[in-house]
Amino acid sequence: MNTPLPTIQNQVAPDVIDLGLGDPPLSLLPLDLIREAAQTRLSQNDNSFLQYGAEQGDGYFRLALADFLSKGYGFEVKPESLFVTNGISKALDLICTLFTQSGDTIFVEEPTYFLALRIFADHNLKVISIDTDENGLIIESLEEKLAEFRPKFLYLIPTFQNPTGTTLPQERRERLVQLAGEQDFIIAADEVYHLLSYTQKPPKSFAAYIDIENVISLGSFSKILAPGLRLGWLQAHPEKIRRFNTCGFLDSGGGLNPFTSAIVSGVIESGGLENNINKLINIYRSRIKVMDSALHQHLPDVKYSIPHGGYFFWLRLPEELDAKELRKKTPAFKVDLRPGALFSSKDGLKNYIRLCFVHYEEEDIEEGVLRLKQCLESK
Ligand SMILES: Cc1ncc(COP(=O)(O)O)c(C=O)c1O
Repeated sequence: MNTPLPTIQNQVAPDVIDLGLGDPPLSLLPLDLIREAAQTRLSQNDNSFLQYGAEQGDGYFRLALADFLSKGYGFEVKPESLFVTNGISKALDLICTLFTQSGDTIFVEEPTYFLALRIFADHNLKVISIDTDENGLIIESLEEKLAEFRPKFLYLIPTFQNPTGTTLPQERRERLVQLAGEQDFIIAADEVYHLLSYTQKPPKSFAAYIDIENVISLGSFSKILAPGLRLGWLQAHPEKIRRFNTCGFLDSGGGLNPFTSAIVSGVIESGGLENNINKLINIYRSRIKVMDSALHQHLPDVKYSIPHGGYFFWLRLPEELDAKELRKKTPAFKVDLRPGALFSSKDGLKNYIRLCFVHYEEEDIEEGVLRLKQCLESK
């Protein structure tokens, strides 16, 4: 029998429940919505999206996106403030290219999104971590580090953080923006989960502060529509937007993703994106409840807060446990997790685990947590 050729990034064996995996499930990637929008757009006679695109991104797409974000964020978003990206990963790469040089210092939260650390490593940046608490980045810890280092930027996930699920309160956001202005470093706010809120609305997106030149807010369609689209946006001050628009990469290749942008415009304009987000929110909200009660039942010694948005539970195991060691045993139980140390830029957080509640259906979440318990209890 022929072995199937690879099509997706993280292929999990069908008998394994990988509770660590932070990808949306295939079953919730809306083929019908994309098919309909693509059919509509491809049946028009306008073929301009097959040309090299405008550097800042398709103007009609930015108009539709600005309208959508104005509603979602609760303040006016202007199309001129938006720059189209092919996802947050590429936006971060571009920020590193344009605003840093090899050997420069940057700040991240401890813990942070581990794959962003890989991007920063590609640019040979020196990563300094800032402590966090149950409300995210601690301003005093940032001030201490600022007395010692001059970072080019601070990368943070202010809302429903990956991996901790925490959200930075409004006052800390404001103080942070003030500090960035005073001490001249960029805030690269990764807001990938901002629109996935399950209880109350989060504080204002950092896009509300882009009248300050140092603030860049990053958004993505990966978690609200589909990661395979490779489509996202950033919002920034006109001076920063100008810097993105005039970079060599775009001069050669044109604006990012004109073809996909033209199709996703239709998904936004038809109301399909909003419906899709509402559908995801309802499903994910139930999955949180299931994971919470399974954890409560099977892992009573584990400490965590119930997430208000995003994708993740962040579990604290008893002090003496090392999640990396535990992971060596998970294959035997057909379950998987992500150890906390992965998210640490200083090899800490050994007794923490990240679990994702979105990827599996409710029965599999229950079964996965049960397997985790069996794994933890095994000698
Ligand atoms: C915090 C965070 N940022 C960025 C990404 C990747 O975003 P994109 O698909 O837009 O590159 C992820 C995906 O898991 C994430 O959790």
